[in-house]
Amino acid sequence: MDDEVIVCRCEEVTAGEVRAAIRAGTRTIAAIKKRTRAGMGLCGGRTCARLMARLLAEETGLPAAAVAPPRARPPVRPVPAAALAEED
Ligand code: FES
Repeated sequence: MDDEVIVCRCEEVTAGEVRAAIRAGTRTIAAIKKRTRAGMGLCGGRTCARLMARLLAEETGLPAAAVAPPRARPPVRPVPAAALAEED
């Protein structure tokens, strides 16, 4: 994957920015998120988390299975605020 490729469409973070974060010592998906904002967009990382994990595995030599997936936070999917405000 070239450095110019957008990894996180929501936050417009490139593979190069993720690689730079990893080369600076970041070793978890959560830390990559904090450093680059990848995974903090509207989709909550559903689109980019696997790409970040792949880059982390490639850059560190870790097996892909050893890269911890990001913790899911509710709401898992975007929902209208009105849906959360409805009463029984
Ligand atoms: S593509 Fe990264 S948060 Fe949506």
